[in-house]
Amino acid sequence: MPKTWAISGVDLHLDLDGTRVRGAFESALRDAVRSGRLGAGVRLPSSRALAADLGLARNTVAAAYSQLVAEGWLEARQGAGTRVAERAAAAQPPPAAPPPAAARHRHDLRPGVPDLASFPVVAWIAAARRALRAAPADALGYGDPRGRPELRAALAGYLARARGVDCDADSIVVCSGFAQGLSLLCRGLLELGATSFATESHCHRSHHGAVAASGLVAATVPVDAAGAVIAELGAAGGVLLTPAHQFPLGVPLAAHRRTAAVAWARETGAVVVEDDYDGEFRYDRRPLGAMQALAPDHVVYAGTASKSLAPGLRLGWLVLPPRLLEPVLAARRLTDGPGALDQLTLAELISTGAFDRHVRRSRLACRRRRDRLVSTLRRRVPAARVTGIEAGLHAVVELPAVDDELAVVRRAHDHGLMLEGLDEYRVGGEPRPAALVVGYGTPPEHAFSAAVARLCAVLARG
Ligand SMILES: Cc1ncc(COP(=O)(O)O)c(C=O)c1O
Repeated sequence: MPKTWAISGVDLHLDLDGTRVRGAFESALRDAVRSGRLGAGVRLPSSRALAADLGLARNTVAAAYSQLVAEGWLEARQGAGTRVAERAAAAQPPPAAPPPAAARHRHDLRPGVPDLASFPVVAWIAAARRALRAAPADALGYGDPRGRPELRAALAGYLARARGVDCDADSIVVCSGFAQGLSLLCRGLLELGATSFATESHCHRSHHGAVAASGLVAATVPVDAAGAVIAELGAAGGVLLTPAHQFPLGVPLAAHRRTAAVAWARETGAVVVEDDYDGEFRYDRRPLGAMQALAPDHVVYAGTASKSLAPGLRLGWLVLPPRLLEPVLAARRLTDGPGALDQLTLAELISTGAFDRHVRRSRLACRRRRDRLVSTLRRRVPAARVTGIEAGLHAVVELPAVDDELAVVRRAHDHGLMLEGLDEYRVGGEPRPAALVVGYGTPPEHAFSAAVARLCAVLARG
């Protein structure tokens, strides 16, 4: 039976089986000292206190202490209790050799995660405090499956203002990130009789996988320089698009393709899901408004706080056409969404303008990073071509001189740099020429230049 006792503020876990309790206790304690979990000089509880904690006879504990004192693992001094002996520290294995330089200086330029060190901690705490103080008691109940009304109202205003979304608070369902939103949507579509659903041929494998796991047939639609090729959607019951900034290729969905997608949905009764995962991060042009506003009855708008704040919050939202609201809510009732306190806090952050300020700061910081990445690559690896950089937190670095994209990823890894190749995101169609999907949002500010330098060094080797 596993037992635990707290010592020096640390919970020490000992595995004691029911038979031969004394032997088990003795060897568990010996192992804890030998492995260093109990360091030299740590004072052990009295045999009486420990026996009471562990539900053992005091004699059992006292006898084990005596045995370990005799073996030199413990020291017992009159009036000073029992401690781990200094000699025991010497018996510990020497510290492992330092890892090679590459492993010590890990840099991460994979796409997906913003700079978590720039999360607005102070503003978040202040908003949480205010939100909790103002919240009605029922905010801590199970609540509305659509999510907290405060957050839905704040989002409705923000999305209309910042992204041009056509919505009201009642058409919004708050979910645990886009990942959960997509699963809920698939279940809702199944309920409405859909049998298949397409993702873009390059996308997050987990999104394509979630479609397949829902029981829908997971189809794919090719992507070219104008975004998803809508003419090839055929009879799918829905499609997941990334119109503002195709993930991962980085192209925006051209205006004629937007119109075509909406016309396709109207004609066939299918649903377009607009994944606006990084819509806040547009640098060189006026932000592309959400395509949902073209046809709110046929397009689901999906947003997330994973890029603008942090993915660990697991906060996302769907703006639903009326016919999908009930089926999605039915699926939502079978599972949990984000906690009420985080929802209230985000609502407060948005309503006070602190969210907008944070987004503006992050956008500026990311734009600077993007410019540094592009100019450094241009200087040091002129053969590489950087695309998809008008928006978002990642760029596609095309490598015309490279045959084996995976070999570059492996070499980078050996040099302490985590990267991802474009083919990692292919769920349909033919492989494209070698390229990397470089996420420039992730490293903390102080490590960004070193990460880019390492990327250049890896690529410059050919
Ligand atoms: C294409 C795309 N969609 C959506 C998301 C956000 O997913 P979630 O809200 O589940 O964290 C991401 C985040 O990496 C993404 O890359």
